[in-house]
Amino acid sequence: MTVRVAAPADAHRVAEVAASTFPLACPPGTRPEDIAQFISNVLSAEHFENYIADATRTVLVDETADADVVGYAMLVSGTPTDPDIRAALSHEPTIEISKLYVQPTQHGSGAAGRLLSSSLSHARDSGCAAAWLGVNQQNVRAQKFYTKHGFEIVGTKTFVVGVQTHDDYVMQVRL
Ligand SMILES: CC(C)(COP(=O)(O)OP(=O)(O)OC[C@H]1O[C@@H](n2cnc3c(N)ncnc32)[C@H](O)[C@@H]1OP(=O)(O)O)[C@@H](O)C(=O)NCCC(=O)NCCS
Repeated sequence: MTVRVAAPADAHRVAEVAASTFPLACPPGTRPEDIAQFISNVLSAEHFENYIADATRTVLVDETADADVVGYAMLVSGTPTDPDIRAALSHEPTIEISKLYVQPTQHGSGAAGRLLSSSLSHARDSGCAAAWLGVNQQNVRAQKFYTKHGFEIVGTKTFVVGVQTHDDYVMQVRL
């Protein structure tokens, strides 16, 4: 397995992985129609084509030896505009780990750890002093994973999926 920066040709496969894994991060009770709307508005192949081309974003893919994408991460550089997030963060420059998703067959395999390590290396190489992310307050598995890798909860924020507003923790790691 290797982690590499996504190329334009990866957009369709990354969108497939994104659509199949996004529901795993949603709290129980999230309406299927809200999930479908989020996937169509944020995680389509066309969106990933734009993310991959966007100089402020970096999409990383984790792929098997036979070149199948089993996970992806997306980093977004720059200071966040949301005042709740700004108030929570204590180091600049910073970068958001906006998405980090791995297919369930690879959970517990180290694939997610590889993606996160590569994300943090990328952040360090681009001169960031810290990285941050939002994680649903009910997604205990992900919180445990990030804590294991040095993140700590520094605040809260909200995240809109369709008509529902979800409660997230803001987590930060010093690089
Ligand atoms: C979050 C994610 C990337 C973490 O990858 P992973 O391979 O599952 O992570 P790890 O197995 O290394 O670490 C998870 C930890 O939570 C524990 N865990 C597993 N299921 C759990 C649960 N239901 N509740 C609490 N802890 C749980 C694991 O035992 C492990 O802890 P340990 O290493 O001390 O044993 C992956 O689970 C994933 O892609 N989830 C779906 C998408 C998602 O939630 N993304 C994050 C959005 S912010």
